[in-house]
Amino acid sequence: MHDHVSRFRDACYVLAVVRTPAYPAVYVRGTAARRLFPEVSVIRHDVIVLGAGLAGMRAAIEAKRRGVDVAVISKLHPTRSHSGAAEGGINAALGNATEDSSDSHAFDTIKGSDYLGDQDAIEVFAREAPNDIYELEHMGAVFTRAADGKLAQRPFGAAGAPRTVYSADITGHVLIHVLYEQLIKHDVKVYEEFFATQVVVDEGRCAGVIAWDTKSGGLHAIEANHVILATGGVGRMYYGTTNAFACTGDGMSLAWRAGVPLKDMEFLQFHPTTLKSNGVLITEGCRGEGGYLRNKDGDRFMVGDAPNAMELASRDVVSRAEWKEIADGRGVDGCVMLDLTHLGWKKIKSRLPGSRELAIDYAGVDPIETPIPVRPGAHYMMGGVDCDLWGETMVPGLWAAGEVACVSIHGANRLGGNSLMETIVFGRRAGQAAAERVLEQGDTGARIEPGVLADEDRRIAGILNNDQGERPGALREELAKTMYDKAGVFRTEEALAECQATVHDLRERAQTLRLDDHGSVFNTDLTNALELLSLLECADCLVTSALARKESRGAHSRLDHTERDDETWLKHTLNWCDDGEVRLDYRPVTITKHQPLARSY
Ligand code: FUM
Repeated sequence: MHDHVSRFRDACYVLAVVRTPAYPAVYVRGTAARRLFPEVSVIRHDVIVLGAGLAGMRAAIEAKRRGVDVAVISKLHPTRSHSGAAEGGINAALGNATEDSSDSHAFDTIKGSDYLGDQDAIEVFAREAPNDIYELEHMGAVFTRAADGKLAQRPFGAAGAPRTVYSADITGHVLIHVLYEQLIKHDVKVYEEFFATQVVVDEGRCAGVIAWDTKSGGLHAIEANHVILATGGVGRMYYGTTNAFACTGDGMSLAWRAGVPLKDMEFLQFHPTTLKSNGVLITEGCRGEGGYLRNKDGDRFMVGDAPNAMELASRDVVSRAEWKEIADGRGVDGCVMLDLTHLGWKKIKSRLPGSRELAIDYAGVDPIETPIPVRPGAHYMMGGVDCDLWGETMVPGLWAAGEVACVSIHGANRLGGNSLMETIVFGRRAGQAAAERVLEQGDTGARIEPGVLADEDRRIAGILNNDQGERPGALREELAKTMYDKAGVFRTEEALAECQATVHDLRERAQTLRLDDHGSVFNTDLTNALELLSLLECADCLVTSALARKESRGAHSRLDHTERDDETWLKHTLNWCDDGEVRLDYRPVTITKHQPLARSY
């Protein structure tokens, strides 16, 4: 190990730093020797988990339980991860409210996916979900109980039975704290506020990551033969999103640049009930508890699009119905109204207290008395890093779990409540599989060579030191508006082509980003720039895939190709990185029991 570290030191530039008591090393702009990240270190673990949301923490806990050395790297403190924003619940066929089975859960998920989900993966998911719920409960998750003392289950969209287990409407918040306690209990090392800039592949095998310590300013080679990506989604490529500022597709872009294809990126889910002012989610649980959607005339317009399921049709259907209602002039100030007034204060205060608070704080209405104005907002990426049922990608040792991954269980449209469950089932599986691989194989010999760190240092320094060109924030805003306007709920060839041209132009302009802050410590300007590059790569994959897919399926709704075309398009899209450009490829969907049926609601 000592030799390996020395080789790193030798390969690095002369340092030009000022040392202060508060910061061991601070970069000073304008000094002649310009190494950006003064601290050189090589850290090594058996397994690294990138991301500390539910999938990441669940993976790390599982790997640690199996006796391997695991560390979590996250750009945020774990409990600030976006999983904590999940509200309405987590699906498992417990059968506590009405009769239910894993087969029904699997079938609803397959049908909801518009038959693009891989049925073998969905079967595993639905079968393993109940035990994972009991385990979360035993870890200390306080779920809402029914009168008979069993875990309560509420109806969610397109589910054949009330299947969503919940903690009022703060389920993600509860779970993230429970898993964080477990992380501490298992003594898992966390590198928090570390930003991973590269997944390193050595002779075809995963060798670890390079990460910037945003607090102290060092760039570190963190070696591990196994890296589990659990970095979440990419909603921030859209204006008006439920996603936290941190959801910028970092893990997707890291994998893409490391040679792993992204899959089904055209399928971006719009959630039907988000606040106009800031995109904040108002949970589907509101409709699960009996809420109505009304237009400006007070009519429950879902009767036209989904006469049976009404407000509990799948999200793609409800979002389209709302969009049409608004476009046809039957909305209210660009929104429709979510009406809970008939539910009564008792139910709202006990089951939906968080939603009430959000409506009061951000829309200025108390839902006990007044309907909430809502509209569709970008919510969830069904696509992601291509991986198998254990989360392994095509690069041995590189794994993925949670929203960053595409196993694929959501296909073209995810059911509400399946996302939290996916983080737990597939986080656990990835942690288990990576740990077992460590125990079977030992050290694969994959290493981060010193030159790789030096090159990455140069790349990041190039971004940091630049003061020409445009600011990252301006490009980020242009991207988000373009995506919302041209690759939104409804799509056309013309709009998608314009969107693609804009994304390409933005990628070009983002080659030279102007940063105002040139320091290496807590530099949010640099974070923004790195995130923008990830967002742009993901956006390119999304729009290129969407342009190519000439059909309507799930969340991908083309006004110029309105039908689902199973003959041509019942296949996954793969997006490869070809020297920075997107190259498309396709792969068949795995079908076990259920041949595609026409959709009915
Ligand atoms: O509406 C919600 O509570 C969101 C749940 C989900 O996306 O699964």
